[in-house]
Amino acid sequence: MTIHPVPVIAIDGPSASGKGTVAQRVAGKLGFHYLDSGALYRLVALAATRSGVDLGDETALSEVTAHLDVVFEDSEIRLGNEDVSDAIRAEACSNAASRIAAYPQVRQALLARQRAFRRCPGLVADGRDMGSVVFPDAVAKIFLTASAEMRAERRHKQLMEKGVDANIATLLEDIRERDRRDSNRAVAPLQVGAGTFLLDTTSLNIEQAVESVLRHADIGAKGRA
Ligand code: DC
Repeated sequence: MTIHPVPVIAIDGPSASGKGTVAQRVAGKLGFHYLDSGALYRLVALAATRSGVDLGDETALSEVTAHLDVVFEDSEIRLGNEDVSDAIRAEACSNAASRIAAYPQVRQALLARQRAFRRCPGLVADGRDMGSVVFPDAVAKIFLTASAEMRAERRHKQLMEKGVDANIATLLEDIRERDRRDSNRAVAPLQVGAGTFLLDTTSLNIEQAVESVLRHADIGAKGRA
């Protein structure tokens, strides 16, 4: 008897590419679990900042990571007893997360936690190294991207809808800076690996992107009701 591992669809890509929304919808359509790995890096950044840990101290950060008391429940993310779903999305937290994500010890300390999300009937995982490092045996690997200008525009629209004032030029600059940091770091850099399907969503809407991922993963027909 052959035992098939729980299928994983890995969706990697740069900041604000919309991969979170697409990954969540794909997971919903297939009835799969969902891992937002970026949220884990954001949580480490938030926990470290709050406890006064120096963001340049790799060992102290890996300790924070190992002891992270976090619960993902529906759309809520709790650190200890506090719902931090909004706090981890603040721009300051995004920048801190991108900095600490460059440390090998932090990445190593998050590995088992990420892999624990792999449960029946399947998982859709989004991040930067889902297909290359965390789930190298994923059944489908997708690199979802869009032009930096389009990503800045989408992030701007999102923030305006939430009533948060934002400057599109500053957002674009931040996105470019994070792209640079995420792509040039020595460990698990953001890249389109071999066997990865490149999906450029610059001129696609969310539904079209979701359909494209499902078509590529080829478990759409079986998984959908
Ligand atoms: O996907 P996001 O914007 O929420 O991720 C926040 C930061 O975490 C981002 O700058 C890069 C880092 N990250 C990473 O290095 N590896 C992942 N698998 C996910 C996120």
